Amino acid sequence: MITELHNINKDYINNVSGVKHEVLKGISFTLNNGEAMSIVGPSGSGKSTLLNIIGTMDKPTSGAVKLYGNEISDYNETQLAEIRNQKIGFIFQSHHLLPQLNVLENILLPTIPIKDKLYKKLAVERAKKLLIRVGLVDNIHQLPGELSGGECQRVAVVRALINEPDLILADEPTGSLDEESAASIGKLLFEMHKENNTALIVVTHSLKLANTIGNIHKLTGGMLISA
Ligand SMILES: Nc1ncnc2c1ncn2[C@@H]1O[C@H](COP(=O)(O)OP(=O)(O)OP(=O)(O)O)[C@@H](O)[C@H]1O
Ligand SMILES: [Mg+2]
Repeated sequence: MITELHNINKDYINNVSGVKHEVLKGISFTLNNGEAMSIVGPSGSGKSTLLNIIGTMDKPTSGAVKLYGNEISDYNETQLAEIRNQKIGFIFQSHHLLPQLNVLENILLPTIPIKDKLYKKLAVERAKKLLIRVGLVDNIHQLPGELSGGECQRVAVVRALINEPDLILADEPTGSLDEESAASIGKLLFEMHKENNTALIVVTHSLKLANTIGNIHKLTGGMLISA
């Protein structure tokens, strides 16, 4: 298995009223290698919170998160950063590309901490192949500001894939796109998951995207229910 969540709770204490807000209440699930899952649920139900906990960017109030069978509370921040960088690919609603870097430079960002020269050379080749795959190889030297929203999001997908992650986490990856671009991103994510046997979790408000990914779960009242 890649990810296991055991009885995850996440509370926030309001710093004005002191009232406890229980966002996640006892969430447990396992995601195996190559499995996909989509998570839907109302705004504020805790989808991003849950995804951030799975991606080790946030810590639960209680409960255990295991990656590859190991509890992540046993890892220090350096080890967690390495896992995040090399094993997990993140895609956000707004692509989070750096405006001053061109397409290729943005894609290669996750490879910067890796010192192996051969790896870096192969990463450039992989970036080019993936850019051909998503139809953007001619845009390789362009800046994000010179691309459409859908094109930027395709670049963000390629960046998430560059270190060949075992797990892709996408938080509303089509939220800012028109229907056609959204469908093409959904299709691309699903194909990448299938072709590379990458585990995939997609959080979305779009039932269309959830249906493309399948294995739909709904987060409501702090609990995750198979839909
Ligand atoms: N750092 C924080 N401090 C306090 N409350 C927080 C914090 N982060 C999130 N919350 C609260 O937790 C709840 C869940 O937020 P979250 O962003 O996970 O929702 P979401 O399901 O992703 O919503 P959306 O669909 O709008 O993106 C919200 O009520 C939010 O206000
Ligand atoms: Mg969210």
